[in-house]
Amino acid sequence: MTSPDRFAALWRSLAPIGRTPNGYHRLSWTDADLACREWFLDEAADRGLRVQTDGNGNLWGWLGDPADGDAVVTGSHLDSVPGGGGYDGPLGIVSAFLALDLLAKRGRTRRRPIGVVAFTEEEGSRFGVACLGSRLLTGALDPQRAAGLRDRDGVRLAEAMKSAGVDTSGLGPDPDRLARIGTFIELHIEQGRALAVPVGVASAIWPHGRWRMEFTGQGNHAGTTRMADRHDPMLTFAFAVLAANKEARLRDGHATVGRVSVEPNATNAIPSSVTAWLDARAADQSTVDALLAAIEGRITERATRDGTGFAIEAESASPVVEFHTALRDRLASLLGGAPVLPTGAGHDAGVLAAHVPTAMLFVRNPTGVSHAPEESATDVDCAAGVEALATVLEELACR
Ligand code: GLV
Ligand code: MN
Ligand code: MN
Repeated sequence: MTSPDRFAALWRSLAPIGRTPNGYHRLSWTDADLACREWFLDEAADRGLRVQTDGNGNLWGWLGDPADGDAVVTGSHLDSVPGGGGYDGPLGIVSAFLALDLLAKRGRTRRRPIGVVAFTEEEGSRFGVACLGSRLLTGALDPQRAAGLRDRDGVRLAEAMKSAGVDTSGLGPDPDRLARIGTFIELHIEQGRALAVPVGVASAIWPHGRWRMEFTGQGNHAGTTRMADRHDPMLTFAFAVLAANKEARLRDGHATVGRVSVEPNATNAIPSSVTAWLDARAADQSTVDALLAAIEGRITERATRDGTGFAIEAESASPVVEFHTALRDRLASLLGGAPVLPTGAGHDAGVLAAHVPTAMLFVRNPTGVSHAPEESATDVDCAAGVEALATVLEELACR
């Protein structure tokens, strides 16, 4: 089999899980996620890896004994956004298994343990906090707060994990496990149109965050309430979406409102409240801060005019990440002068980078689309990603 065919064969074994006509739905601890986890266990077992589920629900497969320390760990996540693409996350895990196969074929002596990890709830699509598994592992998220996070149906994270058979008494920082990792490498599909060759290396992740916005007003009859008498939170919300877009454009930042919920959500009633989530990102923290302040200021002023209430609260914040410069440059040169590029997307690698020398490899995305069903990469480019990852693992774990 050629390398692209080998990639395609393993890809096909995972591809049907959670696939719907409207994209992938692999939210953490749902049946689709559990099936992905089973797939991980099978692939790890086929390669003789010892598998552990840590107290935060992250899956680890080990070649060698992690207790030896200075391990080289690679991996990504299996969960998706609702209606997402198949590559964001799983590509890094499929590539990790195939890179181990290539290493075995090359017959090099391993000098360090190698781990393959699948982090839990990277997207934050079910419980709201992105990179949940890696944040818990590294102590960046309070386990009490995490346990109490609820999904849209009111199910707590701790309940969801327990019903999947995971003991939640170990939720929280895991410094011993973290200390064993010498280097972390995440391979990921590139999520825009920034990569013109099959493989690149990440330089940085933009700072970004999520904010919950509550708009409150007076629920009332759509037919009998005079326009001048209304306190309609939908109006303030609509203004907020436009203001966020405008303020982001003014600063070369990104602002998105992609999720909204309306009460009572009736065609013939003025809503009593609207809850919406703002995602804001920019190349540097001062721009994110200025963007937020401008959006908040404009909405507050508009809410006064509409006679509505407005409150905003941060749900998660991710500071800028500059990946380990020496490691990044070493990998770019090892890969024949691979391009080095930043990204506006968040990753577990960004969380790990505060603790462990970390690097990311990107695989070209011809559509430039991500978090949507059109997200794709060619088998040829994915095979090039596997080759690159194997070369990196060989350099880091076999010398
Ligand atoms: C995760 O993919 C994010 O950037 O939100
Ligand atoms: Mn994503
Ligand atoms: Mn991802």
